[in-house]
Amino acid sequence: MSGTKAGPGDSAWQLSGTSRGGRAAPPKLRASECPIEALHEEHFHQRQFCAEMELLAAATGPRPELARRILVNLCRDLPAHLADEEQGLFPLLRDRALPDDALDKTLSMLAREHEVTQAAFAILVPALACMADGAVPPPEDREALRRLATSERRHLIVENAIVLPLARLRLTDHDKRALMSQMRARRAAPPDPGSDCARALAQLPPFVTAGTRP
Ligand SMILES: [Fe+2]
Ligand SMILES: [Fe+2]
Repeated sequence: MSGTKAGPGDSAWQLSGTSRGGRAAPPKLRASECPIEALHEEHFHQRQFCAEMELLAAATGPRPELARRILVNLCRDLPAHLADEEQGLFPLLRDRALPDDALDKTLSMLAREHEVTQAAFAILVPALACMADGAVPPPEDREALRRLATSERRHLIVENAIVLPLARLRLTDHDKRALMSQMRARRAAPPDPGSDCARALAQLPPFVTAGTRP
């Protein structure tokens, strides 16, 4: 990293966009990539999973492949995304936002929603592991999947409409480099082997999770 001071309008460091499209596999983040655009693309990915959670909620028979994809998302991709925002994006934005941005209340609300989401998916992990083995989703888990999909969609709308546009305006190039560096390091770190998620992922066939880590 050079010692050159970069400001929000500094174009010396060209941030590239992303080209992962519909993303059959999770992204491999590049150091030169703009983290804000990577977060935006992750939101696209999360919207797809909302649709898949609703599909599983409507299933009247076993849908093991669908359950596996959702399990991988809830256990690996979504936690990384929540950490990207809570430990990276939100603190940077709190530092850079102007008083007129009135962002503090929105960021606090989004952080609370993250807690609710994490609690909801922790409850769903064992049920999804059973569905990944061929169990039919019981009514209470269908309802939980529907609720999670609905609340996630609302959350993504607020982040796309308010948080990411302000991040594009306020974060400096130095901020963006630091944020992307954190995001890459987070994905390179091994998961906690004692967690429910690590145990659930370990039971999945290798092709479900293979080739998805940077
Ligand atoms: Fe997000
Ligand atoms: Fe979020």
